[in-house]
Formats: sequence, C-alpha cells, structure tokens
Amino acid sequence: MAHFGMVGLGTMGRNFSLNVADHGFEVCGYDRDEAQRTRLLQEGDGKPVSIAGSSAELVQKLQTPRLIMLLVPAGKIVDAVIDELLPQLSKGDILIDGGNSHYIDTERRYQALQNSGIHFIGMGVSGGEEGARFGSSMMPGGDKQSYELVKEILEAVAAKAPDGAPCVAFMGNTAAGHYVKMVHNGIEYAVMQMISEVYCLLKNAGFSNTELSELFNDWNAGELESFLVEITSKIFAKKDTETGADVIDLILDKAKQKGTGLWTSESALELNVPIPTIDVSVSMRYLSSLKDERVRLSKLYSHQNKISSIDKAPLQNICRDALHFGMMMAYCQGIELLETASETFKYDIDIKTVIQVWRAGCIIRSALLRDLYNAYEKQPDLQNIIESEIFVPVLKEKRGSLVQFLKTSMDAGLPAAASAASLDYFDAYTLSRMPANLIQAQRDFFGAHTYERVDKEGTFHTEWGKN
Ligand code: 6PG
Repeated sequence: MAHFGMVGLGTMGRNFSLNVADHGFEVCGYDRDEAQRTRLLQEGDGKPVSIAGSSAELVQKLQTPRLIMLLVPAGKIVDAVIDELLPQLSKGDILIDGGNSHYIDTERRYQALQNSGIHFIGMGVSGGEEGARFGSSMMPGGDKQSYELVKEILEAVAAKAPDGAPCVAFMGNTAAGHYVKMVHNGIEYAVMQMISEVYCLLKNAGFSNTELSELFNDWNAGELESFLVEITSKIFAKKDTETGADVIDLILDKAKQKGTGLWTSESALELNVPIPTIDVSVSMRYLSSLKDERVRLSKLYSHQNKISSIDKAPLQNICRDALHFGMMMAYCQGIELLETASETFKYDIDIKTVIQVWRAGCIIRSALLRDLYNAYEKQPDLQNIIESEIFVPVLKEKRGSLVQFLKTSMDAGLPAAASAASLDYFDAYTLSRMPANLIQAQRDFFGAHTYERVDKEGTFHTEWGKN
C-alpha cells in the first residue's frame, strides 16, 4: 500500500512524485494519459513508485487515511478530479491541491468539503520542475489540524533554507496558501519585469550578451543574489544548438502569462492596496504581446536612441542599485497586500513565516528575503518595510541610482514602467502631503462629494461656482 497518491503526472506531478519517493515514501501516481503513467514508471525505476490505471485503482492502492495530491492545471479540471475522487474516499482522507488555483476557487472547495470529513489543503508550490524534483517552497493553507497530518511528508520533500529549516509551513486559514502563492507570483512578475527593464537599457548601451551574463553573475554574488538574477546570467550565456546564435536574441519579445499576476492586481484593487509595480508588470506583458502594433507604430516615431556616449562601469552600478531598490518595493507591496488580505479574509497569515518559506526553493528566493526576515525579527510589529531600521539606510542610499536609471532610460526612449512605479510608490508613500487635496476639490466641484479639512474636523462642501 502506498503512502502518497499523485493525480496529474505532467512534469510537476512526476517530479514531485519522484521527490517524495526519494524520501522513502511509497508513491502511487495516476494520470488519464497512459504515456505520462509510463514515464513515471520509467523515471521512477528502482524507487518506491507505482501507477494506477484509474482513480478507483489509485484509491485502492493507498494506505488509509489516504493522502492524495493533485497537480493538474488550475480551473475546472481541479473540480472534475475532486468530483471523481470524492465518492471513493473515506472520512479522514486528505486532498491537497498543489496547482496554481485561484484563491476564490480554493475558498469554495474548502467550504464545500467542510462537512464531508475529507481534509482539503490548498497549497501553493513554487520552484518549477527543478523544485518539484529536489525541493520546492510550499505554501499550504486550510486548517492547522489537516496540515499537521501531512507536515512530516511535506517537510521531508521541501527545499531547505540555509539554516536547514524546511521551506514549508502552515500559511493560514482556508485559501491562505493559494493567496500567498498568488502574491509570490505577483512579486515574481514585478522582479522579472524590472530585470528586463535593466536588460533593455544595458543592451541599448552596448553591453554584449557575454558582458550581461558576467554582470548578472557578479550581481548574484552580492546583494542582488537571487534565483531570478542567477538564471538571467545563464540565459545570456546560452547558445542555440542549431544556429550557434545566442538563444536570447532568437526569442520573440511577447511575454505570455497564466493569470496569477492579474489575480494579484485584481485582489489588490478590490482590497484598496496599492501595488503599482506589480500592476504595471502585468500591463507591460500585455503591451509586449501587441507585437504587430508595436512594429507598425515604431515606424511613425523615432524616439528610441542608442546610448553611445555612456561609461559602462557607472551605468552598471546604477542599474544594480536601481534593481535592488525596485525589488525592495516589489516585496514591500506584496507583503502589504498579504497583511490586508489576511485581516480581511481572516487568514491569520504570519508574515515572518511566509518570508521563511520563501527563503529557498521558490522563484523569488533572494538575499533580500534574508534581510526582510531580519527586519521582522528585529521589529516584529513592523508595519511596512519602508520604515524598517534595516531598510531605511539602504533605500536612502539607492534612491538616487533609481532616478538616474530612469532618467537614462527615458532619455533613450526606453520604457522602464515597473521601475518607475517602484520609485513613485516610494515617493508617494513617503510624501506627507500629496496633491490629493486637488482631487477632492474637483470631486466636490462636479459632484458635491464633500471633503475633509486640515484645520478642523467634519465634512465640508463648497459652492464652487458661486463668488
Ligand atoms: C513558481 C512559478 C510557477 C509558474 C508561473 C508562471 O512559483 O514555480 O510561479 O507557478 O512558472 O505560474 O506564471 P506565468 O505563466 O503567469 O508567467
């Protein structure tokens, strides 16, 4: 009898299953596609891995209480798999949805299974294929009792932080796990976008792909150390086996997306939490996809200039610090959103625990998360990292570089929208008097929406048209 059942044997499901088997747990995998089942058997040769030809067979082959994880595409398929399994399960069995499910779906599924006696855990899994195979960062949510039942196995297969701690922990109630994963992806979008903006400027300033690869490699040895910077260095060095050209130059400049960034922005808008760096990163992906229009319109304007007379050494330092500043703002916005969502949806998320789980295995793992962890350790009641004792001096020091980076990009006609949004977010958040008084006046002028005053309490209206 197997300890662990997996439904969905695509790359993620297969790799996760092999990882579980490597830790001594007997795994049984099921996928409708026979070819995927066969692949698991082949790759799991010599490991405690078996397959089932149907969901009924899977259910029969598992020890009770059964532990079944789903790694199938988010959306209707998750519901279909749950509906198929449910009548075959017994009280006490545990279902883990490990896909990138929308948190509202997870909330619905959690509530629907509440009185069924089946434990339901919505769990974000980050780290891609490699993470699934050798240790991902996992963000389970639902209820604490259910998590305790699967803790041992999840801790065994999770990525390990530098201090050896497993990168998995209970994130919070109901859909908290998938909410945290969604915000992780929002931050992922923002950091990727800002890296691409730095690339855009450096490329146009004449850096070769080899130089870029070396530069990102150097950056990865310092304060920008992160998975995304590390893979960026490797990307610039990769040659196409067919043509010998750099692969990066052969890739069409249209960024695709599966929706988690959009969901983050949607939720933030609903909760009134400003996350402009993430919002604009989603929009820039849409803009990138308008390739035909961009090519057509580029012929009408010629504002894009090559930056020739620039010293490479100072430029690369400006870019490094601008990216560092932008990354801090991306994490800051994500954490603010998590704080508000936790309060609104009663998730009871502990930010320090989230940071701990993101320290290894996931796509946004970075040295910065170590600083963030220390910031929360030092000031457990920290409202916003902008006021952290650790971050204040760094933000003060790097802001000038971000400004320089933006000026240079703008002069060259190169968009750097997410980096600009990071600066604006910071500047607005640290500005004691914003021009919103004028917006209030305009609202009151055309709609009698009233306003508050700085000199006395109450709600006021002015007859703007009268003398
Ligand atoms: C992860 C990634 C993973 C996936 C993204 C890609 O944490 O391992 O975030 O979940 O690669 O969903 O998202 P887009 O297709 O939307 O870029």
